[in-house]
Amino acid sequence: MQVVVCKDACEGAEIVTREILNALSRKPGLVLGLATGSTPIGVYERLVTAHREDGVDFSSVQTFNLDEYCELAAGHPQSYRTFMQKHLFSGINIAGENIHFPPNEGPALAEKCLQHEEEISQAGGIDIQLLGIGSNGHIGFNEPTSSLASRTRIKTLTEKTLRDNSRFYEDPAQQPQVASTLGIGTILDARSILLQAYGEKKAEAVKASVEGPISSFWPGSALQMHADTTFILDEDSAAQLEMIDYFRRSRAEGIRMREENTI
Ligand code: PGA
Repeated sequence: MQVVVCKDACEGAEIVTREILNALSRKPGLVLGLATGSTPIGVYERLVTAHREDGVDFSSVQTFNLDEYCELAAGHPQSYRTFMQKHLFSGINIAGENIHFPPNEGPALAEKCLQHEEEISQAGGIDIQLLGIGSNGHIGFNEPTSSLASRTRIKTLTEKTLRDNSRFYEDPAQQPQVASTLGIGTILDARSILLQAYGEKKAEAVKASVEGPISSFWPGSALQMHADTTFILDEDSAAQLEMIDYFRRSRAEGIRMREENTI
């Protein structure tokens, strides 16, 4: 696991955007796992700019979003499809048929969730999975106590997640209680994982995920089992890390060795 402590969220978004654009230049048919929420917006803005100003081509890219609320229509202002359309898809030349969300409506949802896993495999698997993290440590909507081996399925949201997201609903009765989400096992299948976390509200979840024992109670801690995961943090979200000086030194050494072409 790599931990990069940035001076702020802008530097973090720059790093993540650069990783995606480098990967895209090597593989035009990149398969991206995408996250919603306030955290990835800076990356999406930069990808749109890269398309508009530098002509970066997304026409062969495939995307798989992490999660989607159930019982919210696709065009609902709080649906994650609406969010993605607004912040990314409307600004790049991605083909509509290359955009995928976990199934969230209709009958036989459990079966459709398994088919969704199949679609990810048929696309060749996720190359880069973007993640945020909830203040309770959830990744996607894999809430605390989610199986570390879980696959795409329906999850009931915890009180904490409902409270964190209640600001988006004027009428509390409209707030969905359940969502479909890629599982922790699905996320761990991605070739590379970039988790961004900014602000002090995330400090406890970051500490538990990076330095705590692996536990379903802090789903982010499952990422310790992944061979290519990077946590991109700001000073506030990194504040509780015992190893923070080590992470800073290790980043500086990495930069030095890359400059000297050693790695
Ligand atoms: P946020 O949400 O980016 O809005 O903080 C992250 C999450 O809950 O996974």
